Amino acid sequence: MAKFFGNLHLVLIAGLVLAIIVMVAFAASAPVDANALFRWLHVFFGILWIGLLYYLNFVQVPTMPSIPAEQKGAITGHIAPKVFFFFRWGALLTLLTGLGISIIDGYGHAALTFTGDGNVNLIGVGMWMAIIMAFNVWFIIWPAQKKILGIVEATAEEKAKAAPRALFASRTNLLLSIPMIYCMVSANLG
Ligand code: HEM
Repeated sequence: MAKFFGNLHLVLIAGLVLAIIVMVAFAASAPVDANALFRWLHVFFGILWIGLLYYLNFVQVPTMPSIPAEQKGAITGHIAPKVFFFFRWGALLTLLTGLGISIIDGYGHAALTFTGDGNVNLIGVGMWMAIIMAFNVWFIIWPAQKKILGIVEATAEEKAKAAPRALFASRTNLLLSIPMIYCMVSANLG
């Protein structure tokens, strides 16, 4: 048992196998089509991404100032690079699977141009919010964090400039996540 739960990859594979069993068992009433698979993956990657956004905003950022200087390296050198790996790829995969759902269902263009019915436009608002958030991750937060964490060379002045930029974008994403999730779960476009 300890061996099983001590092995991250094995636990992930077991989760996948259990998901497939559930899919097969309910396939008659809930067909396992492209839409269902994209939705499932979309929510998985969405949780991965937004879970880490909330970890950063609720746990790491507020705690950093009270961590003794000689211990900060454990966060910046070991924890944060791993966080930002899953954070940025989670954001990209959430974006791609979300766009995928809208294309499979045939309302992607109408949603993004707000030319559909009420619920299509509602998901359009959520999609735009999440697209802005994904943009912030890849083009503001990650480039700034690369300097802050020393993954790329940066002068002390560049690092000092990068910190408020990263915080501004991260807090913008926290703010947008609240209405964005409402749009995601309320459009009910099936
Ligand atoms: C990054 C860009 C994103 C795009 C383009 C996008 C797009 C979509 C689309 C088109 C749907 C289907 C709506 C429907 O048929 O009712 C959807 C559903 C959903 N999205 Fe997103 N989304 C994005 C980000 C996110 C994020 C960050 C989350 C965070 C958890 C999220 C969570 C969800 C949830 C929970 C659903 C409902 C699934 C369901 O009820 O079947 N999405 N999204």
